[in-house]
Amino acid sequence: MFSLDMTNLQPSLAAWRGDWHERLARGHEGFLRFRRERLSTFHEAIEPAGRAQVDEILAQAGELRAAGFTHYVNLGIGGSSLGGEALLRALLHPWQNELPVDSGFSRYYFPDNVDPETNAGLLDILPAEQTLFHVASKSGSTAETAAQLQICLHWLEARLGREKAARHLVVSTDPEQGDLRRQVRDRGFRAVSIPPGLGGRFSVFGSVGLLPLALFGRDVEAFLGGARDVAARCEQLENNPALELAAALHAQHVLGKRNVLVLFLYSDALSWVGDWFGQLWAESLGKRGCGSTPVRAVGATDQHSQLQLYMEGPDDKTVLFLRAAGYRAHVDIPRSEPRYGSTGYLMGHSLRELLDVESLATEKALTDNGRPNASLTLDAIDERSLGGLLYFLQLVTVYAGALYGVNPFDQPGVEAGKRATYGWFGREGFAEQGDALRAWAARAKSVVRLG
Ligand code: PA5
Repeated sequence: MFSLDMTNLQPSLAAWRGDWHERLARGHEGFLRFRRERLSTFHEAIEPAGRAQVDEILAQAGELRAAGFTHYVNLGIGGSSLGGEALLRALLHPWQNELPVDSGFSRYYFPDNVDPETNAGLLDILPAEQTLFHVASKSGSTAETAAQLQICLHWLEARLGREKAARHLVVSTDPEQGDLRRQVRDRGFRAVSIPPGLGGRFSVFGSVGLLPLALFGRDVEAFLGGARDVAARCEQLENNPALELAAALHAQHVLGKRNVLVLFLYSDALSWVGDWFGQLWAESLGKRGCGSTPVRAVGATDQHSQLQLYMEGPDDKTVLFLRAAGYRAHVDIPRSEPRYGSTGYLMGHSLRELLDVESLATEKALTDNGRPNASLTLDAIDERSLGGLLYFLQLVTVYAGALYGVNPFDQPGVEAGKRATYGWFGREGFAEQGDALRAWAARAKSVVRLG
């Protein structure tokens, strides 16, 4: 499925070997405590406890696939959007939305943000009759998603009528709580649940990830199976790769003062895994002064952009390479005459060789320069490997949370901005925060106009 290589971390880890076992034990004990206290149910999504959930999703997907939709639009933000997009981007044709529309789900869109241009532009191109909107919100009260739902429902109703419009929505939300669940009851929208305890950035193994996967006919069981294999492999204190990588990244940060974690992806298909992981790592660990800053880089592109900084800038980064051993296309670089001196050496080789050698050369250069790095290499970009990889990265994040001594499943730091927004728009109970935001917007500023 995939392999982890920590060879290039060893020189720096050697210096901290003294407390290595204590570090592993602390991470493992913290992880077990999170489970005992049920701070999250992310592990249950792939266990027998989550089976009813998976069956509900597959049944809903079967009905939706039979309903004649061709266009899928996710209305969700953050953890309710990134996982599904990472999966479809990795598994579908790289130019999927440019292919002819097929009889089933063929096109997908994750607007995520509420930028008016993106949202208006999307509605310009969608065919109402063939479009399914998947509204995903665990809390059911996220302002951005609520606004998009109102807009898209209104747009559908204007084209299809109220009753038919309601059949073009499927909702992922808490089974009982929240205003989105109330709307499901009031309007009879189709719905699948996000179980209590399965927070946004850990919900890719819930309906947020599994529903789009199933709608596009991908192998949900293989995806879950890959995750289960990794969970079984990373259960114990001893010989646990997820715990060891978490401990190494934690040590690089707190002992090595490397407070940036670069995920360097040598695969375009996997590059959205970088966005998904960035959110997972940042929102889970960035608390009480803890956490390292995730940066997404894509090779070979960022060799021509960020690499100079990684090589010769501050030694404050740890690099985690993510590679695919098996690409799904082979492209030869043809031979032709004349051969020019500075490029002729490429002829007869392939794009895969070029990308692989470039990533190897980058790894060596960083290592030679004393810049610590580790590698994850997927055997293939398929459902099983992705399930294993995403679950592994969730485990690494949770173990890191245990090592930092923070709760990786909450996000208190994003609440202040949310409450101020609610208050600004007059939501009941948030007047004080709204007034404070108004006063802040009206304060004297030092602004310079250019042009
Ligand atoms: O990971 C998280 O918890 C967040 O990114 C949420 O997913 C995001 O804020 C959206 O929340 P919700 O799913 O409640 O709409």
